Amino acid sequence: MDTHVETGDDGIDRAWWNEAVVYQIYPRSFNDSDGDGVGDLSGIVENVEYLDEVGIDAVWLSPVYESPGEDNGYDISDYRAIDNQYGEMADWETLLAELHDRDMRLIMDLVINHTADEHEWFQRSRAGEEPYDDYYIWREGNPEEPPNNWESIFGGPAWSYDAQREAWYLHVFDESQPDLNWRNPDVRREITDVIRWWHKKGTDGFRIDAASHISKTDGLPDGDPDTHPTGIAHYSHGPRLDAYLDELHERTLGDGNVMTVAEMGHTTIEQATEYVAREGNGLDTVFQFDHVGIGDSPEDLFDPEASDEWDLTALKAIVTRQQTEIPWPAPFLGNHDLPRAVSLFGDDEQYHRESATLLATFLLTLRGTPFVYQGEEIGMTNVTFERLEEVEDVMTVSHVEEHDAEGVADSFEDVKGMVNYRSRDHSRTPMQWTDGTNAGFTEGDPWLKLNDNYREINVEAARADSNSVLDHYRDLIDLRHEWDVLVYGDYELLLPDHEQLYAYTRTLGEERALIVLNWSAEPATFESPVPTHDVDPVAGNYMDVPSAPDGTTFRPYEAAIYRD
Ligand code: GLC
Repeated sequence: MDTHVETGDDGIDRAWWNEAVVYQIYPRSFNDSDGDGVGDLSGIVENVEYLDEVGIDAVWLSPVYESPGEDNGYDISDYRAIDNQYGEMADWETLLAELHDRDMRLIMDLVINHTADEHEWFQRSRAGEEPYDDYYIWREGNPEEPPNNWESIFGGPAWSYDAQREAWYLHVFDESQPDLNWRNPDVRREITDVIRWWHKKGTDGFRIDAASHISKTDGLPDGDPDTHPTGIAHYSHGPRLDAYLDELHERTLGDGNVMTVAEMGHTTIEQATEYVAREGNGLDTVFQFDHVGIGDSPEDLFDPEASDEWDLTALKAIVTRQQTEIPWPAPFLGNHDLPRAVSLFGDDEQYHRESATLLATFLLTLRGTPFVYQGEEIGMTNVTFERLEEVEDVMTVSHVEEHDAEGVADSFEDVKGMVNYRSRDHSRTPMQWTDGTNAGFTEGDPWLKLNDNYREINVEAARADSNSVLDHYRDLIDLRHEWDVLVYGDYELLLPDHEQLYAYTRTLGEERALIVLNWSAEPATFESPVPTHDVDPVAGNYMDVPSAPDGTTFRPYEAAIYRD
């Protein structure tokens, strides 16, 4: 599959993306250059120097295509146009050129399970116009009775009735995001053309959105009503998913030096392993979500009760499987759909700096291609939503409406817990650049509220502090670039049952790295199960790194890396 992998003198198969640290930009929230309250491409261009300073190698850009914006760009109405909120095609070209000038690459988001209902294809499809009539998944029938019992991932039924066509259409996400009919070869040809088009423009890679959902079970049978969302088993990993990915690879993705990472929600580690291992489908890596879903209730993602507590030993077991089974993993701790990493996995108050830097140490010493989500590098945290009007996320609103339909939510207080537990808006609050007005994000009214802690947590303050979270990210990214062991070395877990310490080794040939993380607010003593008399401290998140780990009591959220 990998025409672009070169085997070095040392016998290691190297591709640019193996050695890359990728930074995800959610453009709406990154930096606004024109004062309309929404981030834009020129705003990113203004900060290419910052990206270079962080040391990242590639940017994954969340969608900037023309879109009605119901799902902030994950609902595309024209695949070949830039939404004017973000700028113009020339701005995208400038961004690409500026990144390339500094040896950084650009990975575009490929949203191909669905389009926006405003896409011309859907407009023509709902009018019954050939050949578009079969571009989406339509079923005729009683307007009161959906074709099956499938529920959408965002809540509510996965079908909506279209009065114009007098038929139901399927949407596994929001009703404004109709699913494309991948069984139709014309649809697949259109998508291939889109990918070719962006590749020709110089795109270096693609993140394939909702990749696991493109094939559905034949006949669209009812789902087991006890599964959540109902029907998910029929619209994830459908029978032709392999064939569709193979075809994309053959026609486009296998072409040249392009990297692909597939978002595979509702996918087990076994399935993720198969996708990355299988020759021919062109998936270089996948996002597998078990670790970030660790506390989730199987019945309701938005149920805070079920999920407050999670256990370090369980996290270790999951990450260890991802690290050792998936041929090339894509470690990540946050993205635009998740709460902030330091709020989910760390202590975003008393041990904010310590736990944010522990997470940096963890992410950047794992095997695979690590993805850093914007703001993580300064330790941005969850926010508190006080009113429903402060919430923009279509998924959160849809869940609230579902609860409302059940008569549960008389006031915001009734749903405040669930909103604040899971809203995707936590990770979408504007990037905190300075302690000035609107955190330096915009001169206008920000589209989403800022986190008040921007006065302390911001890029400017981090730059001025040599012990900041940002400083640790920079150092650790440098270390990863210099030290192949951290990129390619085999991962081995130590002390699987320890409830506070997460320790592991990375081994490549004769060289070994030992990583010790005290993932707790209490001191913990490390009794090393492996010999450590020859190890030297390399990095740590307290001022002084303990020189010999064995028998050492690690301080709250202390993280240390040793070289053997
Ligand atoms: C993916 C995206 C998410 C989006 C959904 C529908 O999960 O990450 O933001 O809402 O797909 O496109």
